[in-house]
Amino acid sequence: MEKIGVLVVSYGAREVAMVDALSRSPNYKVDLYIADKQRNPFNVEKAAKHVVIPDLNVEDICKFAEVNRQQIDFAIVGPEKPIIEGARDQIEKRTGIPVICPKQKYAIEVSKVEQRLLFQEIAPEANPRFKVFNPKDFKSTEDAKKAVYLWLDELKNQAVVKPDRPTAGKGVGVWGDHFATREQLFDHFMSNFQYGTVLIEEKIDGEESSFMAFCDGKHLAVLPDTRDHKRAFDDDKGPNTGGMGSYKDVVDQLPFMTKADRENELAIAQKIFREWSAKINDSTALRGVPLYLAFMHTRGGPKILEDNSRPGDPEIMNILPVLKEDFVDVCYGMLEGNLTRVDVDKVATVLTYKVPPSYGGYAEVFPGNVKKAEIDTPVDLSAAYELTRKFGDRIRVYPGSMELKNGLTYPLKSRVVGVLGVGESIEEARAVSLEGANAIKGGGLWNRTDVASKRTIEKSVHHMKQLRIQA
Ligand code: AMP
Ligand code: GLY
Repeated sequence: MEKIGVLVVSYGAREVAMVDALSRSPNYKVDLYIADKQRNPFNVEKAAKHVVIPDLNVEDICKFAEVNRQQIDFAIVGPEKPIIEGARDQIEKRTGIPVICPKQKYAIEVSKVEQRLLFQEIAPEANPRFKVFNPKDFKSTEDAKKAVYLWLDELKNQAVVKPDRPTAGKGVGVWGDHFATREQLFDHFMSNFQYGTVLIEEKIDGEESSFMAFCDGKHLAVLPDTRDHKRAFDDDKGPNTGGMGSYKDVVDQLPFMTKADRENELAIAQKIFREWSAKINDSTALRGVPLYLAFMHTRGGPKILEDNSRPGDPEIMNILPVLKEDFVDVCYGMLEGNLTRVDVDKVATVLTYKVPPSYGGYAEVFPGNVKKAEIDTPVDLSAAYELTRKFGDRIRVYPGSMELKNGLTYPLKSRVVGVLGVGESIEEARAVSLEGANAIKGGGLWNRTDVASKRTIEKSVHHMKQLRIQA
């Protein structure tokens, strides 16, 4: 078996799923060099060399790459921060190691405004109406307020406020969900506007899907759709988070989508990719997952909510364990420019994230549910791992925001551990995921219980039906 070295830049459970896929390679013996945000217990165990870089700054990542240059064949970067800050350009320039992620200039996740302008040019039909508010254009807060209220008149208040810069899904405020009055909306606007440009766009009604594709710079190797639930609490209530859980169906589209919806998504993504690539004139620039399009399926077809320049967290966890091919070969396909397609098993997958009491404001909203004595206590994953005896490869436990200290694993502040279930149906996959999540003890962790439930899916199906009737 050929021995290779891979550098993984890791933030949390999403990259643990990559590490898992790489280390299960049937064709290669993979030595892992992991630059990690924390002493993630899974990564520490799997790595040939492991380094903690808490802010994942590019300089320290490069130094780690330089020191291990001779052993590393390629690198893969999962999280947005180092991608946006130029990890690809810097590592390639300083070490010659080829890197899987877009080049800095084309990591458009950095700016929601830049994305909107690009899509307006290429696929205006998929863009909600939007307006850009740049602090430089306004003399005073009163001035800005006037302009915002005028735009709200036009949108009949049905508006979404988004800071230009990425905020891990947490800066977006939606009319009717996060504010009920213009004053509240304006407060939210100002809390972001004081730091920079803010976008206010039309609130659109529909059901969300996450569309991802691996890209070798020349082709989009599209992946099945997944559905992420970003709101903190059951029934899609509460603030937006990084994503509390996600599912994938047996087929490429989601239960509330028609085949035509999926084809529309593909057509939009391919058009954007084609025309964007033609402008760029660098056939490797878009390597990685440059177009993770968050779609909203509306009565007027799919609209783009945003683009990310990296795999979705948790969404890519719904895909990696059920790739038909060796993930290392997929990576080589991306590096060599010959990845035209990726095949995925026809199974369903469900991911449930367990998070600490502080996450999504849970402790404040449900103080009675929080066992104070458990907060920050060690998390015990052993019973969840034990379930592999029962489920085999149909369960995967992906530690995220947790760290290894004196042989124990402690929760940190973000999404602590994801549990993936695989099944012949969504229901079956969900049962596995929840059994795994329930087996994890300690840390005062909690999770949404309705991700991919029959009721949740029926609600989405019904919602789309209503929208289509009105169309
Ligand atoms: P984003 O970070 O832009 O994906 O937004 C986070 C969440 O806010 C999305 O998953 C949606 O639930 C919601 N959202 C964003 N943009 C819109 C929009 N134009 N209309 C309705 N909801 C939106
Ligand atoms: N799950 C949403 C994201 O990765 O941005």
